[in-house]
Amino acid sequence: MSRKTILSGIQPSGKLHIGNYFGAMRQHIQMQEEDADSYYFIANYHSLTSLNDGKQLYQNTIDVTLDYLALGLDPDKAVFFAQSDVPQVTELAWMLGTLCPVSLMEKGVSYKDKIAAGLSPNVGLFTYPILQAADILIYHSDIVPVGEDQKQNIEIARDLAGKFNRAYNGEYLRIPEDHILKSVAVVPGTDGRKMSKSYGNIIPLFEEGKALKKIIMSVQTDSKGLEEPKDPDSDNVFALIKLFASDEKQKEIADQYRAGGFGYGHAKLELLSLVESYFEEAREKRRNLEKDINYVKDVLREGGGKARECAESVMEPIREVTGIIRSF
Ligand code: ADP
Ligand code: TRP
Repeated sequence: MSRKTILSGIQPSGKLHIGNYFGAMRQHIQMQEEDADSYYFIANYHSLTSLNDGKQLYQNTIDVTLDYLALGLDPDKAVFFAQSDVPQVTELAWMLGTLCPVSLMEKGVSYKDKIAAGLSPNVGLFTYPILQAADILIYHSDIVPVGEDQKQNIEIARDLAGKFNRAYNGEYLRIPEDHILKSVAVVPGTDGRKMSKSYGNIIPLFEEGKALKKIIMSVQTDSKGLEEPKDPDSDNVFALIKLFASDEKQKEIADQYRAGGFGYGHAKLELLSLVESYFEEAREKRRNLEKDINYVKDVLREGGGKARECAESVMEPIREVTGIIRSF
């Protein structure tokens, strides 16, 4: 059995938050230790479907790169790159689009969700899963660690790989396994809904000081007074505390909730200090990396080179079988 390839991506459409970390990034960083070829990329073409501010997109891309490196992504262990450094991916996306029935896109739940959340119904958003399929298929990925919300997009990638192979009668694209990360439940935002950039309820990963305190103090709770006993299991602050605290610390805080005399303000201060210490090392690392943006760009350049090489080796036979001429 040959070595497996693991691939995943994240959009640079805004500041990354602790939901992204516990729901996706942490697992990506852990998986780089596996005996496999790992590819992690920043899906900047995908972000164009919702962000049309060049300076902002560029800055977000650098910021996400800094975040990943600070949190422990190691460019010697994983190929780490920007989607746009592999132009072959848009080439393959076009080809897959020519084989994709409109009805397959019409069933897309994430398109409908995004429109409902107020995004403009552009064609890029509609065909988003085709570009995602190209991302996955162009590196012959076996395993694509993503959260539950991406399940349908992985199915579409599997579907399109099959359609391509049947249309051209060969094993040109590898069908990935469906691997959904189940390790973390949905992380709640400050208003109790799913934490999401599009809901304005995030705790950004690298916020600190007063700004972080202000956000944490704004987490919504019920209106029980200081003295009243409280139920940790139905509280947002405690749901967030659980992500950061050791089992022992969780139990200690849960007991205080139940005993009464422990207000939500106290719980929030506990959360604040847990968040601060959890990301302390990463913050320090990020501050140092920020001073060396050339290094950060070198990481992307090098990762992009490796990813391109792999993508080109997959595209060459595909151009040949589809009859697409290249005169350069
Ligand atoms: P957002 O909703 O903030 O726009 P994305 O859709 O870009 O986040 O998600 C990027 C990754 O982070 C996905 O793999 C997704 O499953 C994960 N993720 C996002 N929000 C959460 C959350 N609140 N809880 C757990 N995982 C999340
Ligand atoms: N759609 C993914 C998200 O919003 C990002 C993404 C783009 C992706 N291309 C991918 C994830 C390929 C995994 C594989 O989180």
